[in-house]
Amino acid sequence: MRRERSLVAHLPEVAHDSSMDSPIVVSHPLAQIHLTAMRQTTTPCAQFRWHLHRLAEMLFIEATRAIETQPLTIQTPLAEMVGTAFSRPIVLVPILRAGLGLADAILPLVPDATVAHLGIARCEETAQPVPYYAKLPPILAEADVFLLDPMLATGGSAKAAATQLKEAGAKRITLVCVVSCPPGLDAFSAVHPDIPVVTAAVDEKLNDKSYIVPGLGDAGDRCFGT
Ligand code: PRP
Ligand code: URA
Repeated sequence: MRRERSLVAHLPEVAHDSSMDSPIVVSHPLAQIHLTAMRQTTTPCAQFRWHLHRLAEMLFIEATRAIETQPLTIQTPLAEMVGTAFSRPIVLVPILRAGLGLADAILPLVPDATVAHLGIARCEETAQPVPYYAKLPPILAEADVFLLDPMLATGGSAKAAATQLKEAGAKRITLVCVVSCPPGLDAFSAVHPDIPVVTAAVDEKLNDKSYIVPGLGDAGDRCFGT
């Protein structure tokens, strides 16, 4: 089931069941306007990155909507009060390269987060994921982990990344992606039904080169100007 979620129209609170919630499609008009700019062929690299950053902030706000918090007693200039703190450390895991564009935007929202890196290249001929780098922190088991990649196409890269994170101890993972598609979502949830996916769009299909259509092209190339 695909559910749309607006940043202003809050859904009633329900017991968390990621298989029911996922994917969460952020349909807020601002998110869709930034995505539209990213999709346009005429949008140059610097503007593509700027729109990606704005959209990443919105996706992350949605991805953390149900994050566990705890009370924190603080002193304001006028009184003591009970505020809010995260219950667990936060780990951001961009999949290199394009995931870096998401991490750059999200880190200022959670400046104490740890940033892990997973290098996974999609083979141009087979579209199979080829892992080439991993730097993961030892706190994955106790953390809220956010896997970041703009594109969920065949789902191969995200599946491999999530498997690597689980093998390293991660228990609470959310996948944040800008554009997804039915084959990628189905392939991902078949292997990782426990991981909710937050996305700005579920596009129509993959083409014969496993690119998302209509999509936005190669996210890494557009983000970094290669
Ligand atoms: C792109 C994208 C995802 C992957 C999605 O990365 O950023 O990681 O492809 O495709 P999939 O769902 O079929 O695996 P790519 O491997 O092109 O690397 P890049 O970020 O270095 O350009
Ligand atoms: N990777 C991308 O960057 N774009 C696609 O459409 C598919 C994979």
